[in-house]
Amino acid sequence: AKHLLGIENLAPDEITTILDLADQYVDLNRRQVKHSDALAGLTQINMFFENSTRTQASFEIAGKRLGADVMNMAMQASSIKKGETLIDTALTLNAMHPDILVVRHPHSGAVNLLASKVNCAVLNAGDGKHEHPTQALLDALTIRRKKGRLHRLSVAICGDIAHSRVARSNILLLGKMENRVRLVGPPTLMPSEVKELGVEVYDDMREGLKDVDVVMMLRLQRERMDGGFIPSEREYYHRYGLDAEKLSYAKDDAIVMHPGPMNRGVEIDGTIADDINRSVIQEQVEMGVAVRMAAMDLLARNLKTGSEDEQAVYA
Ligand code: CP
Repeated sequence: AKHLLGIENLAPDEITTILDLADQYVDLNRRQVKHSDALAGLTQINMFFENSTRTQASFEIAGKRLGADVMNMAMQASSIKKGETLIDTALTLNAMHPDILVVRHPHSGAVNLLASKVNCAVLNAGDGKHEHPTQALLDALTIRRKKGRLHRLSVAICGDIAHSRVARSNILLLGKMENRVRLVGPPTLMPSEVKELGVEVYDDMREGLKDVDVVMMLRLQRERMDGGFIPSEREYYHRYGLDAEKLSYAKDDAIVMHPGPMNRGVEIDGTIADDINRSVIQEQVEMGVAVRMAAMDLLARNLKTGSEDEQAVYA
């Protein structure tokens, strides 16, 4: 296969291959490689059907640093507004012979469907509640660099799990790398398939955070709540917002993560988010550029060589 659609079909050694290459794009002093010709002569189109700051900007920067010709489709101004379907839009762009499509879409499965219709490599930049593979990979790189390993760690993923593609991709990745994953949040925001995920579930933050190595906070994703239960922000912050008192239950050297965008005073106290001794939120963004460079570099190698060995990097 030639796409990066999810963590689900990646093997542990494939995850390690991506992270090892990402390590070459950002050094231990967090200096980033800014010029390479790994994607020289290739065309990358970014199609974001849903809002994004981090993912869109970092895919664009990553492509440009690798020498690709990068085009950002302004989806709000596209012919989707005139009734053209996702697939017809993709086929139209496919006819312009791009090499890489980066796609974000509000519907789970839409990116996989699109990938089955085009000739080029497709990277999933987040599809509905399904997967956000490069987010999980950048989180994994951040954890590996901070903790010195990516196995036998205890990780608490907290908040709105039910609507989170970030949580789903992280649960899959952390499980594959043999970590202990706890989900912490109100029962109303747990996914229905929680028993099949191989995780521990807590509805009390203090119990859930006890002695963990990593605390990963999530935003309340109101845009995906479909008129269902929406907690009041005040009550939610009181019970589930990460503040110094709740964080004190985690290990003394536990790191605090958030994929962004974050809502200060809702799921996280601003002081914790800004605490450079605990919070790695900015470093996550930095690792995002390196991980996306690595993912596109590996896909481009597959495009150039077509060898079975290298194709095996992605399922
Ligand atoms: N974490 C993340 O996907 O952020 P954006 O929605 O800003 O891309």
